[in-house]
Amino acid sequence: MHAPGPTFERLLPPVADADIRSLAELLVDAVDSGAAVSFLAPLDPGVAERWWRESLAASPSRAIVLVARDAHGIAGTVQMQPAWAPNQPHRGEICKLIVDRRARGAGLGERLMHAIEEASREGGFRLLTLDAKEGGAAVQLYRKLGWQEVGTIPDFALDPDGQAKHGTVIFYKRLES
Ligand SMILES: CC(C)(COP(=O)(O)OP(=O)(O)OC[C@H]1O[C@@H](n2cnc3c(N)ncnc32)[C@H](O)[C@@H]1OP(=O)(O)O)[C@@H](O)C(=O)NCCC(=O)NCCS
Repeated sequence: MHAPGPTFERLLPPVADADIRSLAELLVDAVDSGAAVSFLAPLDPGVAERWWRESLAASPSRAIVLVARDAHGIAGTVQMQPAWAPNQPHRGEICKLIVDRRARGAGLGERLMHAIEEASREGGFRLLTLDAKEGGAAVQLYRKLGWQEVGTIPDFALDPDGQAKHGTVIFYKRLES
């Protein structure tokens, strides 16, 4: 018999300590895998936990944080943070799309993106933007899902090893009314 697939849910405050720990493990795993997710390696689990706690607490009420759970805990996450600017109430930024290495390559990233796009549309957002590491797997994912590529900013960030720099590719997607 197959194990059941991940279930999806919107994470709402107050977020349980166990979920913060699981999200921190996911972030550490992503940095260990060489992903461009803001942090350098090695990422201390305590630092990762603090980052999740503070960033979730600081998220405005229109923000959407999705998690996918499997038998081991949180296997994937993605979020949409609304633009702060009063003249951009229709725009949101997609960030921190992460799938744990144990669950990659099985369509979870794609499902998380479909889910966050639909949740954003239902929340009244009509334009989403994001950026992704040049040459990374996520760039292929966003292209596959019909995101429009704007261009690449060179030398945008350091690789997790803190040595080489990589570019970032800017994308946007319009959401239908
Ligand atoms: C990017 C990431 C979220 C993809 O998650 P995933 O669940 O493995 O992706 P999926 O199985 O849904 O794959 C969907 C599509 O993405 C692309 N893709 C996924 N992994 C890829 C890889 N290693 N190389 C190239 N393309 C890849 C493919 O287009 C794939 O479609 P296909 O299976 O028809 O070829 C995952 O690799 C990850 O968490 N990476 C670390 C964090 C990160 O870089 N996040 C992006 C921040 S912008």
